[in-house]
Amino acid sequence: MTRWVVVGTGALGSHWAAALSRAGEDVQLYVRDRQHKQLDITTSVHEQISHSSLPVCQTAAAAGKDAVWLVFVKAWQLEPLLLQLVDEGLPQQAQLIVSHNGMGAAEELIQEHPDWQVFDLVTTHGAWRQDRYHSILAGLGHSWLGARHAAAQPQWFTTLAAAFPPLTWTDDITLRRWHKLAINCAINPLATLAQSSNGVLRSDSARTKIRAVCEEIAKVNLALDANELEAQVHEVIRATAGNRCSMLQDITAGRRTEIDYLNGFICRQGVEKQIVTRTNCELADQIRVLEASANPQL
Ligand code: PAF
Repeated sequence: MTRWVVVGTGALGSHWAAALSRAGEDVQLYVRDRQHKQLDITTSVHEQISHSSLPVCQTAAAAGKDAVWLVFVKAWQLEPLLLQLVDEGLPQQAQLIVSHNGMGAAEELIQEHPDWQVFDLVTTHGAWRQDRYHSILAGLGHSWLGARHAAAQPQWFTTLAAAFPPLTWTDDITLRRWHKLAINCAINPLATLAQSSNGVLRSDSARTKIRAVCEEIAKVNLALDANELEAQVHEVIRATAGNRCSMLQDITAGRRTEIDYLNGFICRQGVEKQIVTRTNCELADQIRVLEASANPQL
């Protein structure tokens, strides 16, 4: 049987951990506070509440060399986490499923470990945390998994897909990540600056900015089509009109945002490729100002 180690008890991580445990899988939680041997988490889907009591993984080495790591940390937390796992004896051929908003996180570190098997998980599930150990799945979405560097579908994929459907394997996860990146670059900073739920972006002024964000992203990555990106952004705005996006939740809680891996990433790509990405750069700057005023200690 595969051993699954879920990092963090954030909104999404809790649901994957609980789903795997309900499927009878061997699941451990990797958390900051490792005083306890066992952690109780609660997950709710459509008002159906379930409780899981899961063992806490004490070190990366103790998880075993065949463990599959499900890493649900914010983009900026990925590098320090991986460094810590390496320090704790993460096996050389570790299998890591990574899921966060944005691009470019821990890229150099991952390149320095060519034996790691890295998989990206892109999901449209809408989840939030009612309290530290209680996650609510507000909107059931779809998830896609694929290898960062071309690799065959691993054997454990069917178990994962059966535990938390719908999950589809894709040989082109990079394209999916770029589409999700465009959605987050358009929605997150604009809804955050408006301090409102995503539905606020149905205005004409927001439309103009969304168009500009998508056009710049399609110039940075020529495999993308600005019209398609824009249509997807508006579809997500419709579907999540009542939600407060993750960036606004981060700002409200005084946490660091993922801006450096969203519009900040596009801005850096623009500089590198000598392409003008003014709207993305401006949005990144505005969010950084807001972030600093929300929590001067960041
Ligand atoms: O980051 C988020 O909040 C979500 O990815 C999305 C899709 C923008 C909905 O709020």
